[in-house]
Amino acid sequence: MEILRTVDALKAAAQAAREAGKTVGFVPTMGALHAGHISLVDRARRENDVVIVSVFVNPTQFNNAEDLRTYPHTEEADCEKLRKAGADYAFIPSVEEIYPEEDTRVFDLGEVAAVMEGAMRPGHFNGVAQIVSRLFEWGQPTRAYFGEKDFQQIAVIRRMVENEGGFNGLEIVPCPIVREEDGLALSSRNVRLTPEDRKAAPFIHKALAKSVEYARDHSVEDTIRFVTEELNANPRLRVEYYSIVNPLTMQPVTSWGDTRDGAQGCATVYCGDVRLIDNIKYN
Ligand code: PAF
Repeated sequence: MEILRTVDALKAAAQAAREAGKTVGFVPTMGALHAGHISLVDRARRENDVVIVSVFVNPTQFNNAEDLRTYPHTEEADCEKLRKAGADYAFIPSVEEIYPEEDTRVFDLGEVAAVMEGAMRPGHFNGVAQIVSRLFEWGQPTRAYFGEKDFQQIAVIRRMVENEGGFNGLEIVPCPIVREEDGLALSSRNVRLTPEDRKAAPFIHKALAKSVEYARDHSVEDTIRFVTEELNANPRLRVEYYSIVNPLTMQPVTSWGDTRDGAQGCATVYCGDVRLIDNIKYN
């Protein structure tokens, strides 16, 4: 695996692959890689000739300085995992390399970015659009892989891709959430859980899974209340929001029959001081 530190090196690697008629699978990450990220790399490896993984903690998507400061940096371990997974290139640039000047672009991301994470973390999705659009422009991927744990992020990235003209037919590939045996969704933030909070955290997925049963004979409103009360009853958990939304538009559904696309329950829950997100599909 080759480590690329500059934008020019990334462009050259992507260009060479494209000129040789090869498909490029791109996995954007912020490092601190876990089995969830590696499942994206595995899939990219299966579906493409060349696999590029970016490892970059993007400052413009953090609206909380403390969150950015404490975000884990584990470059050596990340590279080892990527080598094992068979990535061809790891793009690991500095902040100055990505943003030699401030990125002042404001993306029109519409309704998909206005709710849930977009409402709670002002500027977050604009920052995601800033970095991901640059990576797509330089890396010229055929396919890009994203985990469904960040369910809303996928809808936002699709919107950005559409607005920017499609990046030469780029396909966005959503990949299923990878969980610990006890159900906790893998996240780089999990390492910050205290041992006691780590025991409470799997309860998030348990409550969501239980609510799928509950929803069979209850309304959307009742189901939201059910999840919120179940979670808040645990002294270590505090729900920031639980929304049941159209999985394409991210707009709240008011009854189960609202949309032919189904419904997705999206939760953000504080477990101690750590903000965790998870989601579940209702049929
Ligand atoms: O999901 C993430 O880790 C980040 O938001 C992403 C897509 C790598 C952009 O920095």
